[in-house]
Amino acid sequence: MKKILVTGALGQIGSELTAYLRKLYGADNVVASDIRTLKDSDVVENGIYELVNVENASEIANIVKKYNIDTIIHLAALLSATGEKDPVKAWNVNMGGLFNVLEVAREMNCAVFTPSSIAAFGPNSRKVKTPQDDIQRPTTIYGVTKVSGELLCDYYHRRFGVDTRGVRFPGLISYVTLPGGGTTDYAVHIYYEALKNKRYDCYIAEGTYMDMMYMPDALDAVVQLMEADPSKLKHRNAFNITAMSFAPEHIAAEIKKHIPEFEMNYDVDPVRQAIAESWPDSLDDSAAREEWGWNPKFDLALMTVDMLARLREKLNIK
Ligand code: NAD
Ligand code: SER
Repeated sequence: MKKILVTGALGQIGSELTAYLRKLYGADNVVASDIRTLKDSDVVENGIYELVNVENASEIANIVKKYNIDTIIHLAALLSATGEKDPVKAWNVNMGGLFNVLEVAREMNCAVFTPSSIAAFGPNSRKVKTPQDDIQRPTTIYGVTKVSGELLCDYYHRRFGVDTRGVRFPGLISYVTLPGGGTTDYAVHIYYEALKNKRYDCYIAEGTYMDMMYMPDALDAVVQLMEADPSKLKHRNAFNITAMSFAPEHIAAEIKKHIPEFEMNYDVDPVRQAIAESWPDSLDDSAAREEWGWNPKFDLALMTVDMLARLREKLNIK
């Protein structure tokens, strides 16, 4: 990666990945973009920033040409819960956007990273330690776009030689930017509420396991995979990766070790609960470990210590 374009750069991942890439590759070599702009945003203020709607191929092509881009990190998308509210928009942004990115990449010789998700699996997939290659029949529009996206990226690699790579991210937990409407968002909100109000009403039911990861590991995964020796990659789109698997009661218990007054209750949202139940309890990430050395650093205990410390500072809570 020498000249990088990030789409959807103001989102939960992009806001941190952009800063990370600017540090690693130089601010002049990273072009952040999104469909909107934000006041006082580090992404907008501290480097190159462009408005790009990924549904418009010429907007992507113009920026690729203008900055001589060789790698597109494509993050613009609608997540699972938001997608269920407007499936047509989810299809248009997730599939239309990806198709445009791949076409520009084919014509202008760029590599492409785009994340898939645990949502690419469904109720027919194996539930525990879901293998890298398994049945994928997701039940959400988000999941449908993620499987289709994986296939499309593999197609562009096989048919046109585009260097496409991707991972299936689990729920990502971070303190910089709030998540954008996913099913796993509870695992971020719980930290904010524990610090602010010492209580949290969880919309996911007790005993519902999902894979999760702390953002620093997710950022490393993107760079590590994009810098990996392509001759070692048997898979490309997309690698299972995970750092931990837990249910709401486990994250609550971990927070309680630091905030003993913290109480969690349940107010289950049937839509997001049904989505969570259709996803794996845990992923088998051995292909990523073998093919490009995936090795996350944060487990639930370490992440909780860091999240609480960072959020105390951010929210100015003693
Ligand atoms: P997010 O919702 O936080 O951010 C998405 C960004 O895309 C937003 O800033 C939004 O303004 C932008 N966007 C929406 N429509 C656009 C358009 N037409 N053109 C340009 N930009 C547009 O999402 P995120 O959590 O940062 O996720 C990024 C990617 O990672 C997505 O593909 C998502 O499916 C995937 N992913 C995320 C998670 C997670 O837990 N955050 C887990 C698995 C996979
Ligand atoms: N965090 C994402 C979601 O819940 C997983 O892709 O939608």
